[in-house]
Amino acid sequence: MKICNTIDEMRAARASRPRPHGSLQSNGDVVGLVPTMGALHQGHISLVRAARKECDRVAVSLFVNPLQFGPSEDLAKYPRNFDRDCTLLEREGVEVLFAPSVEEMYPAGAVTYVSAEGLSDRLCGRSRPGHFRGVTTVVAKLFNIVQPDLAFFGQKDAAQVTIIRRMVRDLNIPVRIVSCPIVREPDGLAMSSRNAYLDSPQRKLALALYRSLMRVREQFDQGERKTVKLIEAGRRVFREEPSVRLDYLEIVDPDALDPIDEVSRAALVAVAAFVGNTRLIDNIVLKP
Ligand code: PAJ
Repeated sequence: MKICNTIDEMRAARASRPRPHGSLQSNGDVVGLVPTMGALHQGHISLVRAARKECDRVAVSLFVNPLQFGPSEDLAKYPRNFDRDCTLLEREGVEVLFAPSVEEMYPAGAVTYVSAEGLSDRLCGRSRPGHFRGVTTVVAKLFNIVQPDLAFFGQKDAAQVTIIRRMVRDLNIPVRIVSCPIVREPDGLAMSSRNAYLDSPQRKLALALYRSLMRVREQFDQGERKTVKLIEAGRRVFREEPSVRLDYLEIVDPDALDPIDEVSRAALVAVAAFVGNTRLIDNIVLKP
């Protein structure tokens, strides 16, 4: 696996198999990108495997993006384990790892941002102002640097996928976004790099998120379609578990991220909650 720490190195690696002469298509050289912030787990690896299946060459980026962290968030202590991440990616047959420094990605004087207006203040964007602007900015930069044909994201961060799809459409970025299912622990907890923060009592409490989603699903399966009722069923779990602080539990249109009153077509049920100081998220999609 080639490790590129600079944009120049990454561009050179990208170009090492040129597109066929006179062709606008990348026949036989489909490049896939899996953007990550490292501290890799099976959720990340599932994206790499999906990319491996669909692409001739797979690039992974590993960059803990300061722009998407708020001033009081966990940027400094975000889990980092570069050597272990490299071993895992090597084992998956990844061709290129792009792991730039903060200075390489944001040189002094960088003042240009990408923002999906109206979408970026929904769900996590409401409680984490500036978060999605940080995500769209870094992902647009990664797309420009790596120039992938396909890019792979997890449904774990459902709003992130929606926003990146919209950005790619609005800015005519020639990349196909592939969304991959949430990978869970055997008991249902969605895998996350932030699960590493949890001690063992917190690890048990963290299941409240998944349990609340399952309560919503139960009600839905019994025929309930009104979102106030469905949300109420999910909220009850957090009342039973008062040491887990609910940030939001919302049912929204998966494309507009707007709250809806009734589930008459596919709807995204998204939850965020604090277990101690650790903020966790999860979601399911209801399909009538
Ligand atoms: P990170 O949290 O490292 O996640 C990288 C990718 O892995 C994201 O697309 C995320 O949705 C996916 N992922 C995480 N946990 C998953 C799980 N349990 N199942 C399936 N996929 C999972 O998301 C980011 O980094 C950043 O915002 C990034 C897109 C890299 C921009 O900085």
